[in-house]
Amino acid sequence: MSYPKIPASEITPEHLYRSRRRFMKGAGAMAMAALLAACGVPSLKGQEAAEPALSGAGATPGTVPPTPLAGLTDELGDPANTWDEITHYNNFYEFTTKKTKVAQMAEGYPTEPWKVEVGGLVANPRTFDIDDLRKFGEEERIYRLRCVEAWSMVIPWVGFPLARLLKAVEPLSKAKYVRFQAVFDPDRLPGQRSKVYQWPYVEGLRLDEAMHDLTILATGLYGKPLPMQNGAPVRLVVPWKYGFKSIKSIVKIDLVEEMPVSLWMAAAPNEYGFYANVNPEVPHPRWSQRTERRIGERKRRPTLMFNGYAEQVAHLYANMDLRKNF
Ligand code: MTE
Repeated sequence: MSYPKIPASEITPEHLYRSRRRFMKGAGAMAMAALLAACGVPSLKGQEAAEPALSGAGATPGTVPPTPLAGLTDELGDPANTWDEITHYNNFYEFTTKKTKVAQMAEGYPTEPWKVEVGGLVANPRTFDIDDLRKFGEEERIYRLRCVEAWSMVIPWVGFPLARLLKAVEPLSKAKYVRFQAVFDPDRLPGQRSKVYQWPYVEGLRLDEAMHDLTILATGLYGKPLPMQNGAPVRLVVPWKYGFKSIKSIVKIDLVEEMPVSLWMAAAPNEYGFYANVNPEVPHPRWSQRTERRIGERKRRPTLMFNGYAEQVAHLYANMDLRKNF
């Protein structure tokens, strides 16, 4: 196993496979910037050069074979990436900025017990453990993940709509945004000893974005518990936004009145905005966002507006200037 501590009892029961809901089918500061390696791809010429090859030497083979679930596709008909690709090419700066090293470094990281504290501007603040969270449901969502660095994957998550959890804590009318905070544990997370970033990792969504049915909290992948490198035991997944919004290993969720300042906004405000909607028309200051490399493919493919989810989410941004609100 390439990921830690998953007792057999926790492996998702078969009924989940059978009752799997194919959700998407039919449903409708520049000096500083040079230091920001990953979400600020080192300013090399061409993404290919910046990305280690996954097939062959870079990937660690022989973890959990995706055999029973082979043949999965997203609603556009593109195949899901393999287990090995999804779990061995990761951005998780708390461990390292080296994508192909995260899995190894994350091995054995303790995720039990784990608590997620939900509070702020709510009538019913609560603290959930992972079993509590699972009670919100587990369904499969096959989503594209488009990293701001211009690579992408198709990932079969297991999770539940964040809206269910938010409704349970009863947001007050003053609540306008949701602020998410990841684990802070510099003793065990070597990346957090770096002073380049303001730890812990923080992200935010507008309340209506957070309530959107596409927005999920994921607890699994390919029908199995989430490996640490992918954000165990619980992470956010917002498929129409650049991957950095999908914060991993969440310990705190607060409903707030003011727009939260994310780790990336604090690190490089001219490069990473609050919205971070996938948008081929708005280049990153250091590279184009018109195309992307799907991991496992050679040829680049065009990047889709809102990562292909425009029909479901474009209305959230009607009358907004997406160049200003990048
Ligand atoms: N969450 C935390 N806590 N720390 C991180 O470094 N990286 C983000 C996001 N969530 C990150 C994080 C980035 S840049 C991306 S692209 C995605 O996680 C990658 O998710 P994956 O490794 O599961 O593909």
